[in-house]
Amino acid sequence: MAESMQGLKRSHRCAEVSKGNLGEQVTVMGWVQKTRNKGGLIFADLRDRSGLLQITFNSEKISEETFNQAYKLRSEFVIAVTGTVVEREGGVNPNLLTGEIEIAAETLRVLSEAETPPFPIEANSRTKEELRLKYRYLDLRRPDLQANIMLRSKVCMLVRTFLAEEGFLEIETPMLTKSTPEGARDYLVPSRVHPGSFYALPQSPQIFKQLLMCSGYDRYFQIARCFRDEDLRADRQPEFTQIDMELSFVDVDDVIDVNERLLAKIFREATGVEISLPIQRMTWQEAMDRFGSDKPDLRFGMELHNVTDVVKDSAFVVFKGAIEAGGSVRGINVKGQGGMPRKKIDALVEFAKGYGAKGLAYIAINEDGTYKSSFAKFMKPEEMDALATAMEGEPGDLLLFAADKNKLVYDVLGALRLELASQLELFDKDEYRFVWITEFPLLEWSEEQGRYLAMHHPFTMPMEEDLPYLETEPGRVRAKAYDIVLNGTELGGGSVRIHQDDVQERMFAALGFTKDAAYEQFGFLLNAFKYGVPPHAGLAYGLDRLIMLMAKENSIRDVIAFPKVKDASCLMSEAPNRVDEKQLEELAIAVMTAPDGQE
Ligand code: AMO
Ligand code: AMP
Repeated sequence: MAESMQGLKRSHRCAEVSKGNLGEQVTVMGWVQKTRNKGGLIFADLRDRSGLLQITFNSEKISEETFNQAYKLRSEFVIAVTGTVVEREGGVNPNLLTGEIEIAAETLRVLSEAETPPFPIEANSRTKEELRLKYRYLDLRRPDLQANIMLRSKVCMLVRTFLAEEGFLEIETPMLTKSTPEGARDYLVPSRVHPGSFYALPQSPQIFKQLLMCSGYDRYFQIARCFRDEDLRADRQPEFTQIDMELSFVDVDDVIDVNERLLAKIFREATGVEISLPIQRMTWQEAMDRFGSDKPDLRFGMELHNVTDVVKDSAFVVFKGAIEAGGSVRGINVKGQGGMPRKKIDALVEFAKGYGAKGLAYIAINEDGTYKSSFAKFMKPEEMDALATAMEGEPGDLLLFAADKNKLVYDVLGALRLELASQLELFDKDEYRFVWITEFPLLEWSEEQGRYLAMHHPFTMPMEEDLPYLETEPGRVRAKAYDIVLNGTELGGGSVRIHQDDVQERMFAALGFTKDAAYEQFGFLLNAFKYGVPPHAGLAYGLDRLIMLMAKENSIRDVIAFPKVKDASCLMSEAPNRVDEKQLEELAIAVMTAPDGQE
């Protein structure tokens, strides 16, 4: 039977009681982790978000009624206990914060009884994630998830205090708004008052934060919810949170400076990790050439080698064809893996094909310096030697090559590099390697759309020295854009924005937008720029990804209280769901039925 807590007041959280409280009377409240019955003595572990505390109910020291109540306690009952802090009789438990003490209970109140939960409430759960997500409120009781959620809260507090001290203002921007320019699909919200019209949920506060700069707020930040209807992965959710900021009268270095100090502070104060400043910077081109990725994991080597020149005259059609088509041949040297069994190499070839490669050529250098290779028969011996030398190959090494368009070669080798490093455990899981990636291309050619797209967004400032090429060679124009990358994950990104109308017009033209189309989509921003706009720049972090890496988790679902699964549904609330006909009618919406009968 559940009782009220009237007349009781919690004096401590469980793990706040310590040896310093010996002899004191305390009142603790929480969930029963488990009980053990030793005849006249009942032990209960009490749990709250601070940790565990052992309670003893001694039949000789408490009323029979209280003892009987204690006898009936089950896991997850919510109880309040008043008792005295004493030294642990059964010896110290070094695994517990409160391992030296226990509470000798005097009174007990059962505040709530509990059914047996569908899975045990414990750290390192082996329960399937689907079941945990269905009962997320129970899952969230587990200590490892609680630690993540508390870490997240702490980081948000640190961000707020740091940015406030640096003169930033926290300003909210609308959730019901117009399409924003981040390039994913929008979540739409129908308007009842304007039938047939829709709001878009923001993909980011981008336009509004730029407007705030126009309005003179000069340094803005927001811990902002963003919505993107895109395919989900371990590091992507349909709604996620950004630490978003924008600054006026600044250039790239100013943004980087304040953010390096912000990162150093939150890592130091939330996790005890010291980041040495300044953080390394690398241009996009260098990152692609060396690591095949614009978010390189720098915890290990296995860098790409460009061997195009070395093999350009060889007879191997795979290499020749790729080079003649304007592509390249590049490789990675998997040190000491020359003895890799054929089956495993075949698996790597299949892996490469998963990234669009037509194949993966290899050379294993035998211990005696001879080669075992999938394409030696097409090559002269001296060409093989030159190739091995260019790859810094030594006896016992495995050399893997991809030949194709540059983008594909980067993708394939970049992915292989990560896959091999994880298979061969080439990095230290406790290391944090940050890098700023700078000088991104401004535009990216879309085969699908047959036009250039903004790599970041259409308000990103080109590098001044590349401006002359905006019309003639748009592909070579670099942007004042930067990403902060940690251990191969893009933590955040931003750019200096265009504040000059002529540059903005040229940018829209390069993107194939007519002036009318640009005004249609972003008119309120472009109009605002007519009334005096300061030079400005900004950045946004993915808060979920940041916490995931700080907490050393593999999925952002583990740092979000109520996450969604791959198909963007919530297993607990069962959202999204069908709605009443009446609601649809009010919104002037008719749901089409697909031919197979599914809506
Ligand atoms: P961008 O689109 O790069 O930039 O987003 C910034 C950061 O947000 C995180 N992120 C995500 N996290 C979880 N789930 C997602 N679906 C998701 N999408 C993005 C990433 C990313 O680095 N307005 C610009 C920022 C600016 O220019 O100031 C923007 O939104 O960690
Ligand atoms: P083939 O003559 O087609 O059997 O190819 C010889 C070798 O080249 C095989 O190991 C293929 O996997 C590899 N190969 C095929 N296409 C490519 C490519 N685009 N890049 C690298 N290797 C390739």
